[in-house]
This record gives sequence, C-alpha cells and structure tokens, in this order.
Amino acid sequence: MISFYIKTYGCMMNVYDSNKMADLLVSKGYTQVLNPYDADVLIFYTCNVREKAVHKLLSDIGRLKFVNAKVIAVGGCIAQSEGKRLFERAPSINISFGPQTYHKLPEYIDKVLKGERERIIDSTFYKMDKFLSCPKKRNVSISEHIAIQEGCDNFCTYCIVPYTRGREYSRPVKDILEEAKWLLDNGAQELVLWGQNVNSYHGEAPYITIGHHKATWRIEQLLQAVAQLPGIRRLRYSTSHPKDFNEALMYVHNEIPLLVPFTHIPVQSGSDRILKQMNRGYTSAEYLYKLNKFREICPAIQFSSDFIVGFPGETEEDFKDTLRLVEQVKYTISYSFKYSPRSGTPAAKMLDQVPEKIKEQRLKILQDTLLQDQITFNKALVDKTQEVLFYKKGKRVKQYIGKNVYMQSVVVESEKDLIGKFKDVLIKSAEENCVIGQVV
Ligand code: SAH
Ligand code: SF4
Ligand code: F3S
Repeated sequence: MISFYIKTYGCMMNVYDSNKMADLLVSKGYTQVLNPYDADVLIFYTCNVREKAVHKLLSDIGRLKFVNAKVIAVGGCIAQSEGKRLFERAPSINISFGPQTYHKLPEYIDKVLKGERERIIDSTFYKMDKFLSCPKKRNVSISEHIAIQEGCDNFCTYCIVPYTRGREYSRPVKDILEEAKWLLDNGAQELVLWGQNVNSYHGEAPYITIGHHKATWRIEQLLQAVAQLPGIRRLRYSTSHPKDFNEALMYVHNEIPLLVPFTHIPVQSGSDRILKQMNRGYTSAEYLYKLNKFREICPAIQFSSDFIVGFPGETEEDFKDTLRLVEQVKYTISYSFKYSPRSGTPAAKMLDQVPEKIKEQRLKILQDTLLQDQITFNKALVDKTQEVLFYKKGKRVKQYIGKNVYMQSVVVESEKDLIGKFKDVLIKSAEENCVIGQVV
C-alpha cells in the first residue's frame, strides 16, 4: 500500500483543498501517515501570499532531503505561480500542481512511481472539475468549512491570489447544499461558507426559472437555505470584500438566529491615498459608513480585519490614518502584515518601497493597538453568559476549549466530556487571547 503525507500552508482554502485531496487519495487505496519519514509520497500544499511562505517551503523541503519518499509533489499557490522555476530551486521535486489540478494528483503520482515520467507540471485552471472528482468527506468534524466560491477578480495591486487561484467562480447552490447535508448528517454542527470573496457569490440556482433561464443566488439566499438544513446549530461565512458588502447581507444577520453576529471585513489601510494605490475600490469613509450601518441594523455585530503596513509610498500620515480608523472601529480580533512584494503584481514594481525597518516599527505599533482593543473586548465579556461550542480538550486534565459566537477561544474545566456540545458559559476572567469561564 502506498502511503502519503501532506503538509499544508496558508489559508482555509488550502486546508479545505488538502482534506479533499487526502480523501481522494484514500479512496484510490493510499494510506495517510502523519510522519513524513513514513511516507512514500510527500505532498506540500503551498501558499504564496507573502515571501516568508516561499522561504518556509524551501527550507522544509531542504530539511527532508534524507527521507525515503519516492515522490515529492508541490501543489497550491506557489506551484501555480512558480511553475518550472520550482524544479530549479528544489530539484528533488517531481510534481508541481496548481490549486485547480489536485484531482489529477493520483494519476500523476502513479506516472512517477511507474517511472513513466520523472517530472510533471500542471497549472491548468480546470474550474469545477476538482469539486466534482472528490469523494465525500471521511472524517467530519464538529465545525466544517465549505468552499462556495474561489478565485478573485479584484486585482488588489499587492496581491498574488488572482494569479494563483484564477478568475472568480461560484459553485452551484445544489452542490453546496449536498455537501452541507452530508457534513451535517455525519456530525458537523457548525458550517463556515468559505471563499476568497464570499459576498460576491453568484451561484447557479437549484431550479430552472420560466423561460429556462438558470437564475443565480447571492450569498444571502444561500445562507438562508443552509440555515434551514436539519442539524445545523451555527453558521458563519468568510471572507468578505468591503466594496461588495451590501445591506441585504446585514439584514440577514437579524433574520437567521444561528448566523453569528461577527464578520471578517478586511480594510487593509485607513488612508484613502493608499487604498486607491491598492485598488481596493472604497474610501475609508465608505468603509466606516458600511460598518456603522451594520451596527445600526444589527447592534450585536462585531468585526475583524486584515491590515497591511508599509505598502509602497505609505507615509507616516497614511499610517496614522490607519490607526485613526482602528480607533473608530474597535475590532475584536485582527491580522496585520508587513507588505511583501510579490513578483508579477503592480505594487512590486512601484518605486517608493518602504524600508523594512519602518515596516517593522509600524507593524509593532498597529499590533499593540489592535491587541489593546482585543483585551478590552474580552474584558467586557466578564460576568456575561455566552453560548460556546466545544471543539477539543485543553492541555490540562478536565480542561475543554470551545468558541463563542465571536470566534474567541473559551476555556472551561468540566467533569463531563464537552466535545461536540453547545453549553452556556459564564465568563469569569479574560486573557489576551482567550476568556475563561464556567458551564452554567
Ligand atoms: N480576499 C481577501 C484576502 C485574501 S489574502 C480580502 O480581499 O480581504 C489574506 C490577507 O493577506 C489579505 O487580506 C492581506 O491583508 C494579506 N496580503 C495579501 N497580499 C499581501 C502582500 N503582498 N503582503 C502582505 N500582506 C498581504
Ligand atoms: Fe487579493 Fe484583493 Fe482578491 Fe483579496 S480581494 S484575494 S486581497 S486581490
Ligand atoms: Fe495563500 Fe493561496 Fe490562500 S496564496 S492565502 S494559499 S489563496
């Protein structure tokens, strides 16, 4: 029996793809192993969003030089954009496969194992094929992601994703509902509808309208349909683009009680000049207007965001605009990064690149500010009761870790096994990255 090991880097889309790939290989008779030294086939499923990710991959491959593997396959976003160059940088690689080609992996591995080919490269955009070629998920978890949309047409000037994942496309409603039903029937209680830009979702409707036109559904309709499936207890979606966020989606939060009052809506910068250079398609005032509207419509809503500091040409004043925006919004949790030039993107060619030292200073200031807001938010939950879904055991005996509706980690001690259960928890104290409570 042939064994394989997968290492996954990057975003949830990669985690999702890796699970599909593993299920596909198992359905073809392969066994999955958790130690790379036990594997005949090593698969690295990569991210190319920042330079660091590429270095990490090459150092991981370098370190595994002496393993017994007969095949080394590198897939995902680095494979897509590096293609042949990947073989030059790491000659031990046999297969380079883009994110839309993983359904072909069993065939490619077979060819290398049989000695028919030493090197294979595939960067075709097959679109739907991979979704249709994979079996149903084997090990269903309490919380599951479903890819509803993939790719991106926005071309933010710093971002590699439109080049690695290709043009935006939405999966048909029917396929998504089928996958959701399977996951719920097999133990999932929370579903996350996932995509690079979920609020521009426009998938084929599950029925044909008069005149034989295939209608399309938006994310609001899809959320309504998923929320009605038997067994679902909690629903989320991510990631949203601010320019596509409309009021209909805000109202849906009030209409669907099991949709969490929390949304990730990355602003990237608070400076209008930088937002324009980034090609984001909104101003900071437009962004703030939407968030305020959202709070008016759905007072419980909380936000998280991504930020980039040190985008080419970013001045001290631009950076202060970002801090001012953060001050106004008060995010519950956020992710911030130093700008990393990606070859082939317009921003990488801009002349006024910001020195690394300044990027580091700005990142530190921004992260400290964001952390303060996060701590304030966590502290405000003390003495409140929250519904928590428990996912796993903690480090200590009798300790369990779950998430509240704001996706914060909640830690409790319990005599009874809590995994897979929803419980009301009274929050007793707050730490930087979690809150501690007691089941009521
Ligand atoms: N589609 C999502 C984000 C996908 S990439 C959106 O538009 O919000 C995830 C995050 O990586 C981005 O939000 C951005 O903050 C960051 N990112 C993307 N390209 C980057 C780059 N070249 N340098 C640093 N951070 C980057
Ligand atoms: Fe990248 Fe912009 Fe598309 Fe997000 S919206 S994936 S940041 S190009
Ligand atoms: Fe990285 Fe590709 Fe996701 S570049 S962030 S793995 S879409």
